[in-house]
Amino acid sequence: MSGQEQKARFEIGMVGLGVMGRNLLLNMADHGFPVAGYDRDPEKVLSLKKEGQSHDVGGFGTVEEFVGSLKRPRAVMMLVPAGAAVDSVIEGLLPFLKQGDLIIDAGNSHFTDTNVRAKNLEAKGLLFLGVGVSGGEEGARHGPSIMPGGHRDAYERVRPILEAASAKVKGEPCVTYMGPGSAGHYVKMVHNGIEYALMQLISETYDIMKRGLGLDERELHEVYRGWNQGELGGYLMEITGDIFTRKDDQTGKPLIDVILGVARQKGTGMWTSESAMDLQVPTPTIDLAVAMRDLSVFAGERKRAHSVYSRPIKTVEGDRTLLKEKLSRGLLAATVIVYAQGMALLAVASKTYGYDLRLEDVSRIWRGGCIIRAALLEDIMGAFQTDKELPNLLLDPNLAKKIMGHQEDLRFVVETASRLGIPASGFMVSLGYFDAYRSEWSPANLIQAQRDYFGSHTYERIDEKGTFHTQWLKS
Ligand code: 6PG
Repeated sequence: MSGQEQKARFEIGMVGLGVMGRNLLLNMADHGFPVAGYDRDPEKVLSLKKEGQSHDVGGFGTVEEFVGSLKRPRAVMMLVPAGAAVDSVIEGLLPFLKQGDLIIDAGNSHFTDTNVRAKNLEAKGLLFLGVGVSGGEEGARHGPSIMPGGHRDAYERVRPILEAASAKVKGEPCVTYMGPGSAGHYVKMVHNGIEYALMQLISETYDIMKRGLGLDERELHEVYRGWNQGELGGYLMEITGDIFTRKDDQTGKPLIDVILGVARQKGTGMWTSESAMDLQVPTPTIDLAVAMRDLSVFAGERKRAHSVYSRPIKTVEGDRTLLKEKLSRGLLAATVIVYAQGMALLAVASKTYGYDLRLEDVSRIWRGGCIIRAALLEDIMGAFQTDKELPNLLLDPNLAKKIMGHQEDLRFVVETASRLGIPASGFMVSLGYFDAYRSEWSPANLIQAQRDYFGSHTYERIDEKGTFHTQWLKS
């Protein structure tokens, strides 16, 4: 072997050694892959080398050395903030890459950017994968859910590494090829949209139990811990239970009580809603979750409005155990409705953008590693195993049974919150979506009549094909 060949021995490289990049790289190294990392910040390179010292891990401070250390054809992954940073990393890599090398963007890039980058890089003879990675820091280190999209051959090249690094459920890796182009990033975006909606629903149950039932942190911890052990079990439920046990180091108060109720966002939930609107697929609980984060930011106005509209919240009387049970069943129904909206969006996007997604596979790889992993995903996967073309999870007989058994509880949650003046708007729109979806008759006939009245937009009839217009002002 020449000196050059000896040097070029790492299986995969990572650009961006922040929390996610470093941990994912160390995870790959844990599985026996020689890996190399690059970051502009020498501190980050140093900490990678330190943490990876018992493995075959290289750390580099220049792109040239880093790229030169990789086996050919090269596989370079990047985990940097979405947007301009991704393009600037690609620009920096290009002078050192050769035909057939592969660039993998594992950040939360917008799917339309991924399409443009794939096209540009392919024109230069390079391969490109847009890969969604979910699971936060812990997932990256010990097994995330991975959603790869792009050229199938490119995926096959890195498949052993991704499979080894991914989470496993019943021995199955939580990664599989999603589809061409931006399929992986699209699936990850919708994952995050669902994540927003589930977080919104859980926070509404917190509000109802805190202000409506008067539960303290210890009781809230118990409730969420209990829910996590049943049908509602999942990562978000687990961490919610944990959150209520944590005390603030500075004040000794429950930490949750010193955290400001202003929710921030990086945009992936909003992108999901934007794309759903573009494709004309209703995802109202996701839209609402984005809107409620936005509303939370208007803290000053909320304070003013509070003084104008102040209305004390009376603590709910009655059997509290029963109330908590009803809340949990209502939450389960709303959770199914949220997954139904997200999956319905994926089904349409798949057809429109030619992703050819297998929703059974999407649910399979979401069962472990990712933020929305939950017991319910077994049923969701089952639904798509039974019917690959299922347009909406609400039409699956098994999930329909669950909703039928819980819909009165969902109504109860909405009624209770509305009576108390607690904004359970995630529950409210989920119920509204459900009632509209299950209704054969729709009041949209009136909207059509109004459109035709003021703008001659025409309408269709129930008893005859074609389009019709009425001279509404004719006496
Ligand atoms: C994941 C998360 C991850 C990130 C979100 C946070 O799947 O691991 O979704 O992607 O934590 O982007 O999003 P917001 O900052 O928008 O809440």
